[in-house]
Amino acid sequence: MIESTALNQDIEVAADGIRKALGTAFDIVVVLGSGLESFVDKLGDRSSVPYSSIPGFPSSTVPGHAGLLFAGSVGSRRVLCCAGRFHYYEGYDPAVTTLPVRAASRLGARLALFTNAAGGISERLSIGDLMVLDDHLNLLVADSPLRGLADDVFGTKFVNMYGAYDVDLASLLLSTGTARHLPVKHGVYAAVGGPQYETRAEIRMLRTLGADAVGMSTVHEVIVARQESMRVCAVSVITDLATETTTELSHEKVVAAARKADVQLAQLLQDFIGKVEL
Ligand code: HPA
Repeated sequence: MIESTALNQDIEVAADGIRKALGTAFDIVVVLGSGLESFVDKLGDRSSVPYSSIPGFPSSTVPGHAGLLFAGSVGSRRVLCCAGRFHYYEGYDPAVTTLPVRAASRLGARLALFTNAAGGISERLSIGDLMVLDDHLNLLVADSPLRGLADDVFGTKFVNMYGAYDVDLASLLLSTGTARHLPVKHGVYAAVGGPQYETRAEIRMLRTLGADAVGMSTVHEVIVARQESMRVCAVSVITDLATETTTELSHEKVVAAARKADVQLAQLLQDFIGKVEL
């Protein structure tokens, strides 16, 4: 577990490094999941820096898995965009995977928009759907990104997760997607640790628990964003159907499906950011 003072220093150093490389005064932070990078093409006046050259950022455990941090504009909004994220299954402490969210908050971002690839569990979902998150089931609940952190530096320890996903933002995502004829749906996202996919019994369990989709990210970032008092919204791209009869699932298939839906996601995010009131 990372110690509070060390984490705080890493966040400060990272925020400072980002400020120097990309500027400051961001309104929104966007985190893009695997295979979902097209949104960066929508950023005007764009600049970027590799995660590996941001001091204080975790070093990648997986070759080729690191990311790029972009800065740019959508209309009058300044956006900080993480193309690639640090996953819990890569072995990082959850307080470390969420460091980019904390750095974005210190650079002014008051709204956080998370995206991910997820397996559809609900029968209402099809591959390629963009599921706006109403809520989540955190099945990584034993290992909180807030565990062991000193209250005074990071905000309240006992973060209220009731209403974590802003209903107005979720509703704007849905209306924006509908206006563009995009396949938007909404539902509950369950986060598992991964990196293995689910057994048939686990899929049955998730359905019974009320999950509409399942993935391996996002919930720790949402917890931290709420501790940072940011408004939160999130979208899952449904890349496969996590049903009891699915037999052929691989990371390659998930990423390929994400790439197919990626352009639609990018359109949704661009339209949404153009309309959202801060
Ligand atoms: N399960 C878990 N995580 C995922 C899936 C899935 O089916 N698809 C994409 N991420």
